[in-house]
Amino acid sequence: VKITYVEHNGRAHEIDVPRGTTVMEGARDHGIPGIEADCGGACSCATCHALVEPSWVAKLPAKEPIEQDMLDFAYQTHPTQSRLTCQIRVNEALEGLVLRLPERQA
Ligand code: FES
Repeated sequence: VKITYVEHNGRAHEIDVPRGTTVMEGARDHGIPGIEADCGGACSCATCHALVEPSWVAKLPAKEPIEQDMLDFAYQTHPTQSRLTCQIRVNEALEGLVLRLPERQA
């Protein structure tokens, strides 16, 4: 499933991310700068924060309360575009997803 991660400096990385993994794992496993994922995907660090393109906001599964709570600890969040990428599971519906990585993590 093709997902594009855009670094804060504008450099874009289109990655083929396996179904069933998470958007965070796709970035981490390919060494994309900007996703730290200190907790390894347990939704307890907020360092896998990214901003999804506005056109994608409504197409993603809604945030669980735990994700919403952890986002409070992320750096410079946006009310609708901010997500914790470890909480987004990859499937065909995400083909073409574009995310922007923040200037820094929490
Ligand atoms: Fe820690 Fe996502 S990897 S909250």
